[in-house]
Amino acid sequence: MGKESFWLLFIGFYVIASEPISSSTEEVFASNSTQQSVDYSDIESKFSIRNPEFPDEDLCYLVPGQRASVSDCNFKNGSQTFLIIHGWSVAGLFESWVYKLVTALFEREPSANVIVVDWLDRANKHYPKSAENTRLVGADVAKFVNWLEELGCPLEKVHLLGYSLGAHVAGVAGNLTNNKVNRITGLDPAGPSFENAESLRRLSPDDATFVDVLHTNTRGSPDLSIGIQRPVGHVDIYPNGGTFQPGCSIQHTVKLIATYGIHNMDQIVKCSHERSIHLFIDSLVNQAYQSWAYRCSSKDAFNKGLCLSCRKNRCNKLGYSVNKIRSARSAKMYLKTRDMMPFKVFHYQIKLHLFSNKNMTLLEQPMKVSLFGTTDERDDISVTVPSMSTNSTISFLLTSDKDIGELLMLNLHWEKDSYLYGFFSTNQFTIRRMRIKSGERQSKLTFKPKEGEFGSLVQGGDAVVFVKSSETQQSRKEQRQHRRKHHGSFFKKGINEATADMSKEPRSSTEIMRETTSNSNSAQLNTTVAL
Ligand SMILES: *[C@@H]1O[C@H](CO)[C@@H](O)[C@H](O)[C@H]1NC(C)=O
Ligand SMILES: *[C@@H]1O[C@H](CO)[C@@H](O)[C@H](O)[C@H]1NC(C)=O
Ligand SMILES: *[C@@H]1O[C@H](CO)[C@@H](O)[C@H](O)[C@H]1NC(C)=O
Ligand SMILES: *[C@@H]1O[C@H](CO)[C@@H](O)[C@H](O)[C@H]1NC(C)=O
Ligand SMILES: *[C@@H]1O[C@H](CO)[C@@H](O)[C@H](O)[C@H]1NC(C)=O
Ligand SMILES: *[C@@H]1O[C@H](CO)[C@@H](O)[C@H](O)[C@H]1NC(C)=O
Repeated sequence: MGKESFWLLFIGFYVIASEPISSSTEEVFASNSTQQSVDYSDIESKFSIRNPEFPDEDLCYLVPGQRASVSDCNFKNGSQTFLIIHGWSVAGLFESWVYKLVTALFEREPSANVIVVDWLDRANKHYPKSAENTRLVGADVAKFVNWLEELGCPLEKVHLLGYSLGAHVAGVAGNLTNNKVNRITGLDPAGPSFENAESLRRLSPDDATFVDVLHTNTRGSPDLSIGIQRPVGHVDIYPNGGTFQPGCSIQHTVKLIATYGIHNMDQIVKCSHERSIHLFIDSLVNQAYQSWAYRCSSKDAFNKGLCLSCRKNRCNKLGYSVNKIRSARSAKMYLKTRDMMPFKVFHYQIKLHLFSNKNMTLLEQPMKVSLFGTTDERDDISVTVPSMSTNSTISFLLTSDKDIGELLMLNLHWEKDSYLYGFFSTNQFTIRRMRIKSGERQSKLTFKPKEGEFGSLVQGGDAVVFVKSSETQQSRKEQRQHRRKHHGSFFKKGINEATADMSKEPRSSTEIMRETTSNSNSAQLNTTVAL
């Protein structure tokens, strides 16, 4: 290495010194003299270019400064180029996700260059030391990227994918390159020592033309969270709230041990952290099951179903096909997922008003909901409604792992929450209608009880069946005015007021409705809203 760099330096000086008469030697050195003066000798990271047939083998290394390695390794000049950057390594070996991601990238982009950045030596230290090393590795990667650019590889085709500490390596690299790389994807960027670090040291939106981030393991206080909690990209997606992931909880540990064995305890600990990679792989290979995420002010608002809008770029695709929207402020986005691939679920907001003559407030109520659609049905989806109070509107999020087509009918069953209420429980609410918004279809539909004008939802009683109503917003308004004029019974009046209340959207959506609908660049869902 030392000898080689000495040679390169020597050649560099030679070329510079002899520039005016060097045209005859251009074939030999074949490029810009300034390139030769860059010192590559301090680069310790290795750049393994992978082959789709042997995705887990290091067969050829691109060596910055050594032009021959480009042709030797079959680097495809002008092709999409991915750099995969791993994180902290306890074992000092590549983890199994590396080849899975390599394989998925080749599956999606068969002619791409897929390069694995090997910084295992510096990653296999105590965490704080490895975290500190991200600066050195970032500098290595930046030099490598500059070199690729000098070779004629367009930076618009360069995409860095960094996991955990690797996300910050990508960030540091992106800040040091001569020109911006097209994209950095941060896969659960590491939290400890980075949560409050200045933007130069960690991944930030300045580091590439577009930066997208998945946050999958951000549980606990900021210094203890494995994944960084703050948004650090243009689009920051927090699947399942970003805290921890389905299938990774303590209850699943026994199952995971059975699958991976007790020796792979670290796999279990990393389950949520690593889920970011598998969500990205899913987006590469399961294009028919594209997951969508929705912008929302908080996880709680999302869990109430209040944020399923796609207007004005409020929703986006998770993963590879993300729409490269760069808003001034980082947009926090949310979605729910399944516990395995394909991770996609379908999101619904269920909103209804609970009438009763009896004052009551019940917390944490278990419901079972069955959905019947144009193409399929999904039975008995369990959902816990945080609070049900007399004469109030409730809104909650419901997800289905099945695509049922357009929703036509729904069964709502209020389960008994075991012993707390005895056999005599007569808790019940009257429901007149239900509003259901679908995130994936961007439809807003009204449902009414199948039998009669009112449905009685009885705790521990039978399911109430609701069917799609052809009623439109306009005709409801007319009906309301009509009723106010002609029949003003107190109960009816109350109901009508409640109906008016329910027509009101949460604040953000109301704003949206007032906004012009000239959304030429809005998300590519069918945004026809059946109001
Ligand atoms: C060499 O690089 C310099 C600046 O980096 C540039 O201005 C010049 O055009 C390049 N020359 C060639 C032959 O590519
Ligand atoms: C790569 O392609 C660009 C343009 O397509 C060209 O200018 C450059 O010389 C090529 N580099 C190599 C190493 O083939
Ligand atoms: C590097 O990061 C700093 C701080 O975020 C920013 O001001 C600067 O423009 C960045 N440089 C490049 C080349 O991106
Ligand atoms: C129910 O509670 C509200 C507010 O606490 C009160 O104003 C109302 O009179 C109560 N109604 C009945 C029927 O107890
Ligand atoms: C709930 O509202 C209805 C209609 O407005 C009214 O008749 C009923 O008394 C209210 N219930 C309570 C407990 O206040
Ligand atoms: C969007 O939905 C409308 C009404 O449901 C339908 O007529 C139209 O073909 C749909 N467009 C696309 C692109 O799916």
